[in-house]
Amino acid sequence: AQQRRTLIAGNWKMNGSLTANSNLLGDLLAAKIESACEVLVCVPAVYIAQCDAMLSKSGVALGTQDVSAHQSGAYTGEISPAMLADFSCKYVIVGHSERRAYHHESNELVAQKALQALRSSIFPIVCVGETLEQREAGKTNEVVVAQLRAVMDVLDDGALARIVVAYEPVWAIGTGKTATPEMAQDVHAVLRKTLAERSEFAAEKIRILYGGSMKPDNARELLVMPDIDGGLIGGASLKAADFLAIIAAS
Ligand code: G3P
Repeated sequence: AQQRRTLIAGNWKMNGSLTANSNLLGDLLAAKIESACEVLVCVPAVYIAQCDAMLSKSGVALGTQDVSAHQSGAYTGEISPAMLADFSCKYVIVGHSERRAYHHESNELVAQKALQALRSSIFPIVCVGETLEQREAGKTNEVVVAQLRAVMDVLDDGALARIVVAYEPVWAIGTGKTATPEMAQDVHAVLRKTLAERSEFAAEKIRILYGGSMKPDNARELLVMPDIDGGLIGGASLKAADFLAIIAAS
């Protein structure tokens, strides 16, 4: 993790309002974060303009939570990577387990979203993770490697080095159950080895975040693991004090 800059990313999910966003970002900015890590908030798309205006000239980066796999055209309701790039949107989450589960996003669709985001110079945060059933069946590595390989298959080595990966065990999301640091590290190491089989350079460079009930009191023990390069934080990113405490723990 030494050469990789830690990334602490908030995923607000479908939460917020003009007033709540303004308060939350106001509190984050007032804290004048002095941290070596990169700090990011992934906001609902309708609030990108609002958050862009508040975050420009700040050290907090802006991202969002999904993107179309197409660049333009007859895709009602979708938002293209180029539209995100019109604002200072630097990152986009793709393949979050909630989108895989509720919107039936396949590994191939997630890969296309990552590819198209990169074409507009937006860094995709590719989420992978197993369900409890898959973990209990001993299939964790197989599942996450297949999810990652689908993305690797559509990217050349240069593009691959520009992604971020997030390991989010589905059973740990919003449940208060965190993977132990050792459990998470094991999966992160498998993911990095998979990347290295394609490109040593990319494997060294790509940040692999942990997500799933990361909180101020467990962030440090996770973030010190050698292959955990940051966090993708849901619930705790909605409270400025908690998010700041996680940043401080990094
Ligand atoms: O993307 C972040 C996420 O799914 C984890 O959510 O609420 O368990 O931190 P939470």
